[in-house]
Formats: sequence, structure tokens, C-alpha cells
Amino acid sequence: MADHEETGIIGPGEVPVTLIVNGRRREVRVEPRTTLLDALRQKLDLTGTKRVCDSGACGACTVLLDGVAVYACMTLAVSCDERSVQTIEGLAHGESLHPIQQAFIDEDGYQCGFCTPGQIMAAKSLIGRTPEPTRQQIIEGMSGNLCRCGAYQKIIAAVERAARAQSNGSV
Ligand code: FES
Ligand code: FES
Repeated sequence: MADHEETGIIGPGEVPVTLIVNGRRREVRVEPRTTLLDALRQKLDLTGTKRVCDSGACGACTVLLDGVAVYACMTLAVSCDERSVQTIEGLAHGESLHPIQQAFIDEDGYQCGFCTPGQIMAAKSLIGRTPEPTRQQIIEGMSGNLCRCGAYQKIIAAVERAARAQSNGSV
């Protein structure tokens, strides 16, 4: 953390922003050009949200903003002031994984795992707005998240499993 943050002094060109991250109010000071991705990773040390393309093309940085999936690399932190941000770090309860996380494990829905946080957050948004998605709706709903390992079949199976878990009342 930079010295000026520890002393509460706002650096040149910085503005204060309050993010409600995983249910907790977090105050950060950012330049107006700072993305939500940089605020999460560099200011709050929440590195579960991944940077790959940094240009809105891959979905690795997907988080939920007021419950809706967004690319954090394409979202300015200042536009998130006083808004709810959910990241992959906010899903598990202690040692208990969120049912979507468990579904990805049960279906082996990853290889290297680098895209997985974004995939899981996208799945959470999809299942939140479409509780019982068809396979085609899952394919379309997850189409903004690329997987360089090509684990798509198992990712889709994981989302199907997670949706079933939701319909059973556990998501
Ligand atoms: S890192 Fe944000 S979309 Fe690729
Ligand atoms: S599991 Fe490797 S990029 Fe998706």
C-alpha cells in the first residue's frame, strides 16, 4: 500500500471511491482512469479476478456488479462508487465451497484454472437470471467467457449441475 494511502492523504489526480466488495465496505483512492480490475487486484489484493486480455475480449475478469456480470477490465472503478461488487473470493463460506464452485470440481470443469473464476462468476449471473437454463441458454450465457484450454464441454456440464443444485434450493 502506498504511503499516501496509509496517511489518508489523497495523491495527485486520485479520487475516493467506496466499493461494497463481497458485502464489506472498502475505501480506495484511485485515478479516474483506474479500472475495477486494477482496484480489486492492486488496491484490495483480491487477485482471484484474473487479467488476461485487459480489453473486454475473454471474460477472465468477470465479477458481479449489483448482481450482474461485468468485465472488470472494462469498468471504471469510479463508476462503482457505493455499488455492490462480488468477486470469486466472496462465494465460499469458510471451508464450504459455493455450490457452483463445487459443481466445477465435480464436473472437472477446468484444466489450468486461469479462466475458472470468471467462468464461475458468469455462471452465477446466468443462473441468477435464468434459474433453469437450457443447454443452449447456458452455451449462449457463457459465450462471453473464453477458455484457452478448451474445457467447454465440462464447463457447460458444471453449469448444468449448478443449475440443478439451484433448483434443489442449494444455490
Ligand atoms: S481480462 Fe477482462 S475481458 Fe479479458
Ligand atoms: S481452464 Fe485453462 S483457460 Fe480455461
